[in-house]
Order: sequence, then structure tokens, then C-alpha cells
Amino acid sequence: MRPSDSNASFPNSSATPKPRSPRPADVRLDTLLEELRTLLTTDQQLVRNVTVKLAIDPDLTVWPLDYDQTKESLLNLCINALQSLDGAGVLTLEAKARGETIELFVRDNGPGIPMEEIPHIFKPFYSRKPGGSGLGLAITRQLIESQGGRISVTSIPRLTTTFKISIPRTGCSVV
Ligand SMILES: Nc1ncnc2c1ncn2[C@@H]1O[C@H](COP(=O)(O)OP(=O)(O)OP(=O)(O)O)[C@@H](O)[C@H]1O
Ligand SMILES: [Mg+2]
Repeated sequence: MRPSDSNASFPNSSATPKPRSPRPADVRLDTLLEELRTLLTTDQQLVRNVTVKLAIDPDLTVWPLDYDQTKESLLNLCINALQSLDGAGVLTLEAKARGETIELFVRDNGPGIPMEEIPHIFKPFYSRKPGGSGLGLAITRQLIESQGGRISVTSIPRLTTTFKISIPRTGCSVV
């Protein structure tokens, strides 16, 4: 099976309001990811038997980020991943530095995203879920791009899906 892949930057839409300007500060990655795991695991209906794993590059301690905007972005990706896992599987949150860029990964081993769907998933109101608003990924992309970052996805249906956020240090400098 060929992986579905996208690094495309989709056009912005007025459907999602422009996020406030980022307020970067030195964020401890272990604190951020642990907080997310705690938040997710309090929702037992959503997590059920899913294992939530963290993988943090030991060389990566702090990075200049808008804490709330980054947390909201990761939360949207994690909720999607947990919804796709439907109570069983593994969700991994990973953080690593590649030179002057931080890379954050949200990976699940759920059903994946068919290749033909990939160009649509970041568009506002695109949803395959009953009752889904289809705004989660559109908002996430805006929050990341307003910090000077990028978001992309790679999916191998029935095997694995990985959302990758990259934010250069200069994209979000501490004032
Ligand atoms: N990890 C994933 N695994 C499989 N499909 C996914 C995953 N993440 C996103 N998708 C697909 O992308 C679509 C759009 O996601 P998005 O978060 O924007 O909206 P939603 O989850 O449907 O609704 P909501 O506004 O409640 O977030 C989803 O409906 C789903 O089809
Ligand atoms: Mg969603």
C-alpha cells in the first residue's frame, strides 16, 4: 500500500477566524506532552484501551512556543487520532529538534486516511464523522502557521497515520 502524503499548503479560508498573535515563551516539552496525556486520559469514553505513549528527545528541553496554541493544536490531532482508534490501539506523541526546527508528531495505528481524502482534510467543514464540524484540522493549521510553522500528514491506510508539525525557532521568537 502506497502511503498517502501531503505537505501541500491549502488556501486560507475566512471560515476560520484569524487566531490571535502568538505569545511565545520557553515551553518545556515534557510538561506540555504530559499535560496533554493527563487531559486525554481523563476522558475514559474516548481513550478506553488506547495506550498513550510519549517520546521526547532527551536533548530537547525547552522551545519558544505559544503554549496554549500549541496545546490546542496537539489536542485536536490527538482527539482525531483517538476517535479513529475507537477505543483500541496506540497513540504516540513525539517531540524532537532537527537543527533550529522543532518537530512534533502525533501518530496512531488506526484505519488511516485514504489517499484521495488527504487533499481535503484541512479544508473547513470537511468531515467524515457523523456530527463532526470539520473545523479541527482547519483551526489547527491556522494556529501552526501563525507561529511560522507547517503541518503535514502521512498515512498508510490500515497501518499508521502521522501528523507532523514543524516550527522553526525563528518562527516564534521570545520577545
Ligand atoms: N488520525 C486520523 N485518522 C483517520 N482520519 C482522520 C484522522 N485525522 C483526521 N482524519 C479525517 O479528517 C477529517 C477532518 O478532521 P477534522 O478534525 O478537521 O474534523 P472532524 O474531526 O471531522 O470534526 P471536528 O470539527 O469535530 O474536529 C475527519 O473527519 C477524518 O475523516
Ligand atoms: Mg477533529
